[in-house]
Amino acid sequence: MCADKVKDKNLPQTPFYYYDTSLLARTLEAIQAETVGHDNYHVHYAIKANAHPAILRQIAAAGFGADCVSGGEIKAAMAAGFKPEDIVFAGVGKADWEIRLALEAGIAMLNVESIEELEVINEIATSLQTRARVSFRINPDVGAHTHAHITTGSAENKFGISKEDMISVIRKAEAMTGVEFMGLHFHIGSQLLLMDDFEALCQRINELQQQLDAEAITVPNINVGGGLGIDYHQPAVHPIPDFKSYFQTFAQRLNLRPGQRVHFELGRSVVGQMGSLLTHVLYVKKGTEKKFVIVDAGFTDLIRPALYGAYHEVVNLSGESRIARGEFSDCESERERYDVVGPICESSDIFQKDYLLPPTRRGDLLEIRSAGAYGETMASCYNCRPLPNVYVTDHPLS
Ligand code: LLP
Repeated sequence: MCADKVKDKNLPQTPFYYYDTSLLARTLEAIQAETVGHDNYHVHYAIKANAHPAILRQIAAAGFGADCVSGGEIKAAMAAGFKPEDIVFAGVGKADWEIRLALEAGIAMLNVESIEELEVINEIATSLQTRARVSFRINPDVGAHTHAHITTGSAENKFGISKEDMISVIRKAEAMTGVEFMGLHFHIGSQLLLMDDFEALCQRINELQQQLDAEAITVPNINVGGGLGIDYHQPAVHPIPDFKSYFQTFAQRLNLRPGQRVHFELGRSVVGQMGSLLTHVLYVKKGTEKKFVIVDAGFTDLIRPALYGAYHEVVNLSGESRIARGEFSDCESERERYDVVGPICESSDIFQKDYLLPPTRRGDLLEIRSAGAYGETMASCYNCRPLPNVYVTDHPLS
């Protein structure tokens, strides 16, 4: 990919997110192709991954539901055209106004994470003379192979209700007049690439369903959460995640009861690869031993490398153009190692360390790839920096 070939000449000022809605469309089609014939499967897009209105509108128009974790996300989902009956609402700390908003909007169900929360929902629903549809987020105590900050399903975690308390909490809900028990919710973590993790989740759900059978408890809905990962190392090779293996795992391993609906909450796998962060090189600074490429994007624009040590491929579009024009005799040997860093006043503001790039100059345009998920939504204004610009288009960068 080269800067010469960048199709749009009217790009906004860097740093900016570039969203390719043609890749998003192909990704949504791939999900639909893998779920066709499973009329009981319902995919809810996890809004937290990317809440740009144009992106939400496209996903809603394709017929997906929404997974929200705040009142703000419920409002954004409805403004984009998601139907309330396709919206689910999770989160350990739902504020009263958010519960009220969810009940007044008539969303599909609230995923409840504690008995304390259940009591508040019952009170609010009763005061509104309605019944809240609730499902319980059960902590499956299944470890997932991913970064510690994004595993959620192990026993020592703030999320969900312990599986030992599952029956008693359902019984409690059954005795309440303001709530209706709709099912169970799980989520084991994010950026999971091993199907073994999802198999372990299915196995745990199967065990729990046997306990529920013994109690004659009917569970209309099973929500298995999100978590399918993307290929950050080779986004060009794998622009669309392995939805086939993912949905097959649940089709083969999850033992369902007649009429049971299965809900999925996919975030990163839907939008991760359709977004890049574009940034210009401000300076190439020679340290005593290293060379630093200082760019105009920082962790305020994309915090994943600083927060999780996450890998994002960096492409020097201008440098690749110079190579394509034959400016260097032997391209490979011309590549040099740089630390690619941002301007924020924190030493963690690093995108890549000892990273091979073509010889890089002030003014070069760099693409930080696989930034469509948890990029723009996690941006901040630290250092009084403006939020990154966004450019939405229907074709790839080059
Ligand atoms: N459902 C629940 C209950 C969740 O907590 C999450 C993500 C999802 C669904 C969507 O997961 P996904 O399909 O995107 O893996 N900021 C981190 C990721 C945090 C994920 C939080 N929960 C990152 O940049 O890697």
